[in-house]
Amino acid sequence: MNINLKNRKVVITGVSEGIGKGLALAFGEAGALVAGSARNSERLHAIENEISGTGHFFFSADFSKSGDIQTFHDKAISAIGGVDILINNVGSIQKLAGFFDLSDKDWQEVFDVNLMSAVRACRLFSSSLKQSVSPRIINITSVAASRPGDVFPHYSAVKAGLCNLTISLARTLAKDKVLVNSISPGPVWSKSWDDEAKNIAEKSAKDLQDVAAEIRASSAETLLLKRMGVPDDVTGLVLFLASDLSSWITASNFTVDGGFTQSPY
Ligand SMILES: NC(=O)c1ccc[n+]([C@@H]2O[C@H](COP(=O)([O-])OP(=O)(O)OC[C@H]3O[C@@H](n4cnc5c(N)ncnc54)[C@H](OP(=O)(O)O)[C@@H]3O)[C@@H](O)[C@H]2O)c1
Repeated sequence: MNINLKNRKVVITGVSEGIGKGLALAFGEAGALVAGSARNSERLHAIENEISGTGHFFFSADFSKSGDIQTFHDKAISAIGGVDILINNVGSIQKLAGFFDLSDKDWQEVFDVNLMSAVRACRLFSSSLKQSVSPRIINITSVAASRPGDVFPHYSAVKAGLCNLTISLARTLAKDKVLVNSISPGPVWSKSWDDEAKNIAEKSAKDLQDVAAEIRASSAETLLLKRMGVPDDVTGLVLFLASDLSSWITASNFTVDGGFTQSPY
């Protein structure tokens, strides 16, 4: 048994940084054809230069906007000629705040980028997925879905919605053999953590390196494995779920969290 993803057509959202970027590079290395999107064109060009293989497609789109998602869909399908695997990775906390510091607008923004992005992408890409011999949808949610805290309740609630949607979609698409699963990462150092460290360093006039080290240490302390994740810690499971090795797995959620949630069932 081996993971063979050669020539598989993969759509990945939120591909310019962090987990999404790691996924694009790994799928490229595995011989798959990648269509990826994010907003920042410069960072998309950088991936274009870094990814292995040819025929990939990268396009700047704001996934909180339905028109941009539609345009990306149309261009991606014609560029790579269909889709076998849709990875709804785009997501963001947007505002690190507690319940009483979050406005309706904050909730709406988090809803659009974390949940409606996946709803719209699934709706659009489904007809092409149904034509694939081995179709997959993989939604990237968060451990915050099952372990909400008192900060970013909007993000936790919306990620729980994405886990829930995963099951509905798995049921709806089972007759078409589209397998739909979600992955809940724990704390993985990425651009959003970098941005947060910069924020704290600026406000406290502390050294950025020291702030980053403090965040890493306090986050690591909550994990059995005592280290924060890196994007590649998530990649292996995504490759597995995208491959034929996962052909009897659907409607499931998997945690990749260094032992954070420790949920026995
Ligand atoms: N890192 C963690 O600790 C962690 C933990 C649990 C779950 N997750 C989830 O894992 C996924 C990836 O997270 P990450 O930490 O790798 O994120 P990241 O490093 O912050 O990268 C987010 C990616 O999404 C893109 N993006 C953000 N808003 C967008 C928008 N409105 N339209 C289009 N693209 C947009 C960003 O590119 P542009 O800025 O260029 O648009 C970037 O490529 C997210 O769904 C996140 O919620 C992360």
